Amino acid sequence: MTTQPAGTTVHSSQPYNAEPPRTALADRDLTPVDAFYHRNHAAERPRLDPATWALRVDGMVERPATFSLDALRERFREHSEVVTLQCAGNRRAGLMEVADPPGETPWGPGATGTARWAGVRLADVLREAGVAPGATDVAFTGADVAEEADEPYAVSVPLEKALADEVLLAWSMNDAPLPSAHGAPVRVVVPGWIGARSVKWLERVTVADEPSRGHFQAVAYRLLPADDAPAPGRGVALGPIAVNADVLSPADGAEVPAGPVRVTGDALAGGDRTVVRVDVSTDDGATWHEADLEPQASRWSWRHWHTTLDLPAGTTRVVARAWDSAAGVQPADPAELWNPKGYVNNSWARVTLHAVASGGG
Ligand code: MTE
Repeated sequence: MTTQPAGTTVHSSQPYNAEPPRTALADRDLTPVDAFYHRNHAAERPRLDPATWALRVDGMVERPATFSLDALRERFREHSEVVTLQCAGNRRAGLMEVADPPGETPWGPGATGTARWAGVRLADVLREAGVAPGATDVAFTGADVAEEADEPYAVSVPLEKALADEVLLAWSMNDAPLPSAHGAPVRVVVPGWIGARSVKWLERVTVADEPSRGHFQAVAYRLLPADDAPAPGRGVALGPIAVNADVLSPADGAEVPAGPVRVTGDALAGGDRTVVRVDVSTDDGATWHEADLEPQASRWSWRHWHTTLDLPAGTTRVVARAWDSAAGVQPADPAELWNPKGYVNNSWARVTLHAVASGGG
């Protein structure tokens, strides 16, 4: 049993989908495991026995291989990396205020979390198997079968990303064994890319000359024009995350004392970009001032920011937006971004604070 923070939202219990309140993510480099969001597609979570678990590496490789957990540990060096995972559905609730993407989960900003992941580099395993000429993509297959797909969860990343040093086959999360709920015994961690590519309960790595035809790559997790509908191959497969930020503390709707109020948040650039600036506004973007950025725990992790606002008594809407190292910035309005599956809401963050004048005077 885990002890989730008070205020955790359980969006569904089968499949289990849950996110912590935004304040549980504030001011911490690493998200405690109990506060880490859960995003699942299958009603039943696979329970894999680490003693009998094996990883198959096949497809366009010169030496197809099967590795037990012990073999992975013995054959390859362990590496660790602090990485933020963010679901493509993070902040979907903001898109739902524009129009309802039917049947989708109304995620807030809590479908984001950062952990120290440790395991082996996927690149080392692929090198051992020998990638055959002509290969372009690497698919990951998990052990879970989602009702909507009727096939094991499978997605892929381009070979170039699969061979990058930062992509891990992880067995540990925040210096403890990877919990079953987060994919034990081994999950993929693909830094900078939508969480959907970080396959849990990994059973198979398949090198191919095309992207995965699995449901969660060919139909779901694709960006569609507003007037289109999901079908195999429609729209574009989402990959690197778009620059995004949110206010994490105080909570949306919080009552605070009038006067100086410390406001903090997170920002994530995605891909191999970094967050270079966060702006905060109290007049809905007419004027901005720069927040202070905290140091990043790693180049693959979120960047926390903070500022102090002098709030008059009454209601203020605090708006924030991040810029990335490619001069990308968050768009103002969720209506510009609306898409039928409700992905990648990276419009300006907005929270409402109610400042109350102290009663003493
Ligand atoms: N892997 C498998 N096998 N099955 C899944 O349903 N969900 C994906 C990804 N990996 C999923 C999966 C999605 S959409 C996200 S955002 C992350 O796992 C969530 O990881 P977490 O539940 O550990 O936070």
